[in-house]
Amino acid sequence: MELDQTSITSALTKGYWSVKVVESIESTQTALKISSPHHGDVIVADYQSAGRGRLDRTFESTKGTGLLFSAFVKPQRDQSEWGFIPLLVGLSVAEVLGIEFFTKWPNDILSDLGKVGGVLCEVHKDGIVIGVGINVSMTAEQLPVPTASSILLTTGTSPDRNQLLPAILKEIAFNLSEWEGADSMEDLIDDYLDSSATMGKQVSAQLPDGTSVVGRATGISGNGELLLDTGAVISVGDILHLSLN
Ligand code: BTN
Repeated sequence: MELDQTSITSALTKGYWSVKVVESIESTQTALKISSPHHGDVIVADYQSAGRGRLDRTFESTKGTGLLFSAFVKPQRDQSEWGFIPLLVGLSVAEVLGIEFFTKWPNDILSDLGKVGGVLCEVHKDGIVIGVGINVSMTAEQLPVPTASSILLTTGTSPDRNQLLPAILKEIAFNLSEWEGADSMEDLIDDYLDSSATMGKQVSAQLPDGTSVVGRATGISGNGELLLDTGAVISVGDILHLSLN
């Protein structure tokens, strides 16, 4: 199914999201930033020629097979707390996709078959650009790397992106407002832990300086950091799951 701005917009009559559909673009993330975005602006593309992932990686998706969007919001909490936002976004995506999907700290969406999506959040002026890429209808031959998977490969069906995008945007808005109004992060952390494939596992955290730390993942801080049983607090890095439980 083609992306259709009218059907996406008509599913989002309440709330602040304003969605623009483009066929092909370098990166929705970059395009949104240079558009001087307002709170709630979203760009969704059928194809990105230079999609970006975390840690300066590329994010590739065959035309028409992914849900690739960036959304700009101005969070109503102090910027020192925005580290929790990528986790809230991952949680929102996993909740909408259903029980076969999990989060992997900090920003991946997994199924039992592999990585189905990723989140890239970048502070921009007085707000944050939330980028989400989900492999929706990719066949095994279309996967960018062997460790990836898709909604289609996981569930046998591929949802209509014109329904999936509004559902995810509504869930992000809901979780953001819960977070903005929360006196304590406890409930949101519990929700995140319920979605997490990382929690309780023995992991190796690969840190940006090339070193790694091993331990059991025991929790998440109110700022979105991963806590290990060794006392290590990981704020940036890649996680390898070393154990199944
Ligand atoms: C990751 O897995 O490292 C994050 C991937 C984020 C990809 C999305 S696709 C839409 C938006 N535009 C980009 O260039 N990147 C994000």
